[in-house]
Amino acid sequence: MLTLRGRGPRRGNSLSQLGIVKDGAVLVRDGRIGAVGPASKIEKLVAARKAEKVDVAGRVVLPGFVDSHTHLVHAASRAEEYQLKIQGASYEEIARKGGGILNSVKTLRAATSQQLKRRARAALEVFASHGTTTIEAKSGYGLDVAGELKILSLHKELSAEQPIEIASTFLGAHVVPLEFREKASGTDEYVKLLTDWLIPEVAANGLAEYCDVFCDRGAFSRSQSKQILEAGLKNKLVPRLHAEQLMRTGAARLAVELEAASCDHLEQINSSDIRVLAKSDTVATLLPGCDFHLGLRQYAPARKLIEAGAIVALATDYNPGTSPTMSMPMILSLACTQLRMTPAEAITASTINAAYSLGRHNRIGSLEVGKQADLAVFEVEDYREIPYYFGVNTCWLTLKNGQVIYAAA
Ligand code: NIG
Ligand code: FE
Repeated sequence: MLTLRGRGPRRGNSLSQLGIVKDGAVLVRDGRIGAVGPASKIEKLVAARKAEKVDVAGRVVLPGFVDSHTHLVHAASRAEEYQLKIQGASYEEIARKGGGILNSVKTLRAATSQQLKRRARAALEVFASHGTTTIEAKSGYGLDVAGELKILSLHKELSAEQPIEIASTFLGAHVVPLEFREKASGTDEYVKLLTDWLIPEVAANGLAEYCDVFCDRGAFSRSQSKQILEAGLKNKLVPRLHAEQLMRTGAARLAVELEAASCDHLEQINSSDIRVLAKSDTVATLLPGCDFHLGLRQYAPARKLIEAGAIVALATDYNPGTSPTMSMPMILSLACTQLRMTPAEAITASTINAAYSLGRHNRIGSLEVGKQADLAVFEVEDYREIPYYFGVNTCWLTLKNGQVIYAAA
């Protein structure tokens, strides 16, 4: 059993400490962890004698994965663009021709709430079947009042209707929508729509905890991003940022300056950015699924970030354009072979550190008394086999608040 006990978040060497208990047991009561430790000790507790027993003999138990960056709600895949990319078109070329994010905006606006919900629910079941118990979800494929509110309302409805916890993020600043691109002042007008109307509306209705911006070439500049995130802060939305993915823009520094919860991607950061991040409490969230899916070799400098002392997390970035996967174990495999993180570091990055980036480290991300009984059980003998096997699902059982939400057939 990997408890991940101890203080969060983890930096440097402490990313390797999994708090392993051999032949461990967890006592669950009212959805929370009542006791945790060696089975020989837990089984003797009075409360344990009356408890229903789930025997996972020989398997590996760990905290449910926390996937801190997803674009859960979208209408369709972009498999046609996948083929174009394989044949040589770049992600940015496709975007400039009206594909990419704008393609997903078109399909989302045409979809009904019910269609979107059906697709998101199916995805959430796949998340659960790979050991994930909490996700963050971003809007950003509506890019108008109706579309963005439609997505954020779905986050809320889905939170109430199914077991996976959803932390909601407003990403109205994903790109500038088509209807604002015709005029020279269109981008400024769209930023104004976000800061003066949509952000206050989203906050007033309690539809998001976080505000995110895609700060990059072809999306929003550093100064526009700052304006948008500051409007978010005024409305009590905590900043997160899509930073330094396609080009270095200074977004990582902006994230630190604004005390953002996280800055994500970071393929293009330089050594001074790494130093600034390492001294901050802003989480460096790495998304190796993107480079894998896009066939690029620009993986973020994970080793340098860890060695400098940054708080590193991992996430799927589940989205139809750059990372169509719900599998944290696959992300762990990529983190190990491509980012050169050890299996232990990858597990810490996708549990307690990811929980910290969502402000939930006191509730989830480790197996400790008082925390939610969010557990994943894997059909492996050694925790290193979780990333070692790839392209197959070794998840055997997933519990959310002590309830089974996935069991392998
Ligand atoms: O995290 N970089 C911006 N947003 C997404 C991609 C969205 C899309 O292509 O649909 C990302 O990679
Ligand atoms: Fe993303």
